Amino acid sequence: MTTTELPETYYADTPMRSGRTAAVEYLRKPGPVYRVGSMWLITSYEGVRYAQKNPDLFSSAKAFDGIVNMIQMIPIAIDPPKHADYRRILDPMFGPKRMAAMDADFRAQLRGHIDAFAPLGRCDVVADLSYKFPTQAILTLFGLPLEHLPKFLDWVTGIIKGSDIASLGQNQPPHVIDCAMGLFGFLAEQLEIKRTHRGDDMLSSILALDGDEAWTDAEILGLCFLIILAGLDTVTGAIGFSLLTLANDPVLRRRLIDDASLIPPFVEEMLRLDGPVPGVPRVTTADVEVEGVLIPANSQVMLMLFTANREGPRAHEMDLTAKATHLGFGGGIHRCLGSHLARRELRLTIEEFHARIPDYRQAGEATVLWPAGTFGLESLPLEFEPC
Ligand code: HEM
Repeated sequence: MTTTELPETYYADTPMRSGRTAAVEYLRKPGPVYRVGSMWLITSYEGVRYAQKNPDLFSSAKAFDGIVNMIQMIPIAIDPPKHADYRRILDPMFGPKRMAAMDADFRAQLRGHIDAFAPLGRCDVVADLSYKFPTQAILTLFGLPLEHLPKFLDWVTGIIKGSDIASLGQNQPPHVIDCAMGLFGFLAEQLEIKRTHRGDDMLSSILALDGDEAWTDAEILGLCFLIILAGLDTVTGAIGFSLLTLANDPVLRRRLIDDASLIPPFVEEMLRLDGPVPGVPRVTTADVEVEGVLIPANSQVMLMLFTANREGPRAHEMDLTAKATHLGFGGGIHRCLGSHLARRELRLTIEEFHARIPDYRQAGEATVLWPAGTFGLESLPLEFEPC
């Protein structure tokens, strides 16, 4: 098959404002594998799965190389075989049981936000809820006091807004560097405190590892930094898209309120249809053929999760009976470590929102941020009866 080559602008010009379905069709049109500028896009489910299953040919370490100057993001920037050692230790710390233990804290945090805007009869989901809650959730996961939320939000926003996860470390603007240094300094300080004040949290569990399993400070900071980059604006985006869909579909909303067991399948379908991660980066380690197209060694490749997730005759429709086989959390060895946490945050947000505000409407523009490393909404104004 001949290679389709398009200008770099083709990707940035994706018509996101025309809706996801149009955007998916636009990105799929040139074929399952093609080049935009120096970046290769793999848009088909088959092609993406092939790359995920062959991490020896599609390296993550090389894709996240830029950040190494500052810190190595663990485990996303690690290739096999070392990657498996990290996941063996981390997976139980992020399993459903450990995440369930944080429910009461999460519900209290959500109620705090909802209590603040419910009497007003209006809110902006992004500014008033989905931007703050995921950061509180991560502070809770780390076992850090919530009083640090405002400065934590400032640093994290400075880093996330000023760059994207795929290009971090490469000529970052001074403000991003300042925020990253502030965050590292804070995390290093908190680690010192945790060494003598252990709790029942993720950081304490990692600090408790000993012998061959013990982690260096650089490894712990690399994990924390990745969790902050991977686990905040993804959840912010997903909460926004979920409430946007529900605000405009009162029948679906009523179904979820009447039968809470439909919330988990709704969350899965939102992650498939409107997932916040458009694609994940890799670099080829050898010449490799995907879907009949030859990608040369050392090529930058983007595995397009958001097109791969919408393949098949009814792929653009929500199906609450579908099996959760989507790629919204990625796949293969780098499948999302925080998937159980993210699902919990999303389910609890919907439950708590509906418990207080069952009836609401969209009350203004909800523009999708694009181009961006993560899909999200700039704002989502809602109106409802004050309560
Ligand atoms: C709706 C929310 C989320 C989505 C859609 C999402 C999506 C993803 C995706 C697609 C990957 C694969 C990356 C790749 O293949 O290169 C990934 C990896 C990862 N995610 Fe998430 N994520 C979410 C929330 C979170 C949260 C809350 C955390 C925090 C604990 C987190 C931590 C991670 C980590 C540490 C990895 C790297 C795993 C590895 O390399 O082995 N994510 N995520």
